[in-house]
Amino acid sequence: MEKMSAQAASWRQRFHLMPPRGLMNDPNGLVWFDGAYHVFYQWHGDSCRHGLKSWGHYASPDLVNWRSLPPALTPEHDYESHGCYSGSALVDGDDLLLLYTGNVRLGNGERASYQCLARSTDGVRFAKRGPVLSAPPSGFTQHFRDPKVWREGDDYFMVMGAQTVQEQGTVLLYRSDTPSSWHLVGDLLPVRDNGYMCECPDFFRLNGMDMLLFCPQGRQPEGNRFQNRYPSGYVAGRADLATATFEHDAFDELDRGFDFYAPQTMLDPGGRRILFGWMGLPEEEETPTVDDGWSHCLTLPRVLEWREGRLWQQPPVELQALRGPVVAHGRHSLDGELSLPGLVGECFELECEIEPGEASRCGIDVRAGGDAFTRIEFDSANATLRLDRRASGTGASGVRTSPPLGRERLRLRVFVDCSSIEIFVNDGEQVFTARIYPPAGAEAIRFFSAGAAVLNEVRFWSMACARESAAGLEIAA
Ligand code: FRU
Repeated sequence: MEKMSAQAASWRQRFHLMPPRGLMNDPNGLVWFDGAYHVFYQWHGDSCRHGLKSWGHYASPDLVNWRSLPPALTPEHDYESHGCYSGSALVDGDDLLLLYTGNVRLGNGERASYQCLARSTDGVRFAKRGPVLSAPPSGFTQHFRDPKVWREGDDYFMVMGAQTVQEQGTVLLYRSDTPSSWHLVGDLLPVRDNGYMCECPDFFRLNGMDMLLFCPQGRQPEGNRFQNRYPSGYVAGRADLATATFEHDAFDELDRGFDFYAPQTMLDPGGRRILFGWMGLPEEEETPTVDDGWSHCLTLPRVLEWREGRLWQQPPVELQALRGPVVAHGRHSLDGELSLPGLVGECFELECEIEPGEASRCGIDVRAGGDAFTRIEFDSANATLRLDRRASGTGASGVRTSPPLGRERLRLRVFVDCSSIEIFVNDGEQVFTARIYPPAGAEAIRFFSAGAAVLNEVRFWSMACARESAAGLEIAA
């Protein structure tokens, strides 16, 4: 790695997957195979611009200790001449399959998209088998990418991000009895309200509910929802895969923060549905670390559950292995500002419960120092939670707001890494994710309220460090 400025070095993440150099985007091919979690990712190792993408590769036995492996796919052939784009993985007998999009730019500004197959016996070296689907169906453009495959009984299924010739986004369903040829079943989103292109679909069943995740580019904001230039989210309902009919509820976001895109999931041996997202957005290439030769990272893993008619997202219990010794505080009344002994740091997990009571607003500032702070604020009048990064430091700014929450109590579980914050609200009812680039030394944590509130059960842990080896990031508890 080239010599990095001290400031940028202080923003290297300690417990998130990030590229050793270059640009990282979508998580790809999440899978449990041969005793390990595998997380592949879109990687442009030579630059912090989007360009010729390979598949980077991490593996872990436990979602905590990660090993960087050699890139699984790099562009070599005509059918992938301009990048091995996003896709998915599938365990097939003793083998691991990757299905991905071969991106080809044709000199005239047009593109071609090939859905390609690669096979591995050891989960490390992949033999390419070439395209298994060479064109979109008639009525659809070459914006046709990001295959997600899964198996049900003897059938293989695949969802594809697609665009109609009228430039409307949708997700197409394919079926087969072999992963090497595919038949169109139909269009899962025939109501045309999903922008101009849907990227990165994922389909799975969650506690009896059928879920379709996708990223509808061009979908317009609605109130506080879909404020990001590139939204991502899900619909939930009942799908009939024989006919590609899907009766579902309205599209909603998975994350209320700023930097969350292209989420993908996998099923683990314990039956958990685990999600990773890209902690970034398309066309936001000017991050404060590009001059130092790296950009973006993935989110923490999240376990998805469908209960009480809604989606819940929680960090997996394994992440507790990253915790240092606990600093615990009991009940405090809160009126104005409060700092608690032992709560300081740039890389930590913080759990607390706040009863807003009479307060018109209350919350926590983290990464505070000098004029800088990142604010998590409950607004009692609207019963909403805001993530405010206007004073966070360098980089993109702004405020994001949750839908209305309960007013009685607010449970927060906050993960702060060197340049990110993830907030799990009310045991996973809402999540906010954002990159922040605070100045050096901004390490204070302050609780605040306007009016009388109560702070319950504060627990704080410094988080373990990652070691950076020549190969990339190694995180060890
Ligand atoms: C989403 C995306 C995918 C594509 C990949 C290319 O961020 O645009 O649709 O496959 O990134 O890196």
